[in-house]
Amino acid sequence: MADAPHAFQKCLSPNCGKTYDIGQVLVACPACGELLDVKYDWDQVRPPSSWKEIEANWSRRDNPLNFSGVWRFRSLFPYATDEQIVTLGEGQTLLQQTDRVGQYVGLDSGKLHLQYEGMNPSGSFKDNGMTAAFSHAHIVGAKRAACASTGNTSASLAMYCSVTQLMKAVIFIGSGKISYGKLSQALDYGALTLQISGDFDDAMARVKEVTKDLGIYLVNSVNPFRLEGQKSVMFRVLEALRWEPPDWIVVPGGNLGNSSAFGKAFAELKELGLITRIPRLAVINAGGADTLDQLYNKHNLRWNGGHFDKDLINGYYQTMDETGAKASTLASAIEINRPVNLTKCLRALHDCDGVVRQVNDQEIMDAKSQVGSGGMGCEPASAASVAGAKMLREEGVIAPSDRVVCILTGHLLKDPNATVAYHTTDQDYFNQILGSRGVKRAAHANRAVAVKNELADIVTAIQLYG
Ligand code: F0G
Repeated sequence: MADAPHAFQKCLSPNCGKTYDIGQVLVACPACGELLDVKYDWDQVRPPSSWKEIEANWSRRDNPLNFSGVWRFRSLFPYATDEQIVTLGEGQTLLQQTDRVGQYVGLDSGKLHLQYEGMNPSGSFKDNGMTAAFSHAHIVGAKRAACASTGNTSASLAMYCSVTQLMKAVIFIGSGKISYGKLSQALDYGALTLQISGDFDDAMARVKEVTKDLGIYLVNSVNPFRLEGQKSVMFRVLEALRWEPPDWIVVPGGNLGNSSAFGKAFAELKELGLITRIPRLAVINAGGADTLDQLYNKHNLRWNGGHFDKDLINGYYQTMDETGAKASTLASAIEINRPVNLTKCLRALHDCDGVVRQVNDQEIMDAKSQVGSGGMGCEPASAASVAGAKMLREEGVIAPSDRVVCILTGHLLKDPNATVAYHTTDQDYFNQILGSRGVKRAAHANRAVAVKNELADIVTAIQLYG
């Protein structure tokens, strides 16, 4: 049973605003259908009064909850008791300052930071949210948990199920819509993997229906507890910057869970007096999966105090259905046309004076190669953040002297095909994987050198190319 009377769920619509017990399993407000937030009554549970209080956890890392890069911040999302939390030591991630990639983006020396969320145990930022939703699922006694996924959510859920053996994982993926790195994880971790005909948006609609009918716990980011865990990405960024907010957070936008969680984190930190300034947020869509960019920039959709234009959103989706529009980008992780957290993201954009852009597959792959050659690498979707930062810098929206943090959401090895295709000399392979998506050139390719297995030839090759 839930044991946190100070925590509750609340509908984000100001017209409704109904509240629900945290013991209830909900992915939308039963009264009006809007998304839910997890909220805290800070009169009943004392929040941390300074970062020092949180830093005190650093010296107690023998407690697995303090070792976790998510749960060492648990006083900022106190909905579970220590005994109820399920952790796998997630969140050991790194903020790296890099001038090499900073130069590519167009920033002054010392100004670009990359937040490597691919260092999580399943290789993506999803573990931050999964430990949070999984703990809630455990609290309510769930025996099966499900998600629709472009690959990373499913890998994360499958891993939490396999390691803990507390639940069985049921995974919905669009057939052929997932990279092999991610598919291999779901299969190896033993999850029931349902490859349905259709794409992520189809799988998402279906998993909502099935979990409701069968009473299976849903861990997609419509689950408000997921986003509580994902707030910790921002807590770690602040921690690495000695609690001084950067000027910009730049994040890829797919289902818009991260951007929503980051906005909530900053709004709450400001309310609690732990920060005095909120960074600006840039959410970067992939071209071909650009619903947010279209609605925000072309149709001027705004949060508007929670009174956003629902007819505009519904009309946009209706046109999409009528024209048979489907998301299409090689950044398969964000190949999503119906982002489930759209309205929460609008709130985050409002709270963080945000901007939205879209970058195409060519820009994504070029930026990805720079993250590889000047950093530790990432999967294609993650590089949308760096490509987006470069675009905003060129537009003059981001200044060269701004301190910018790009969130790298997934590990390089999640999608090796895209990387190899970019660097290959095999034109057929390039065309098959990248050319078919509109990528025309690999300007920053690092070609493998074919050389005879003869000492003299090898020495010559090193002298020529090394
Ligand atoms: N980057 C990566 C590597 C992702 O896997 C995802 C989402 C995103 C960015 C987008 O994040 O949804 O918070 O805007 N992947 C989901 C999945 C949809 O199923 O793994 P978002």
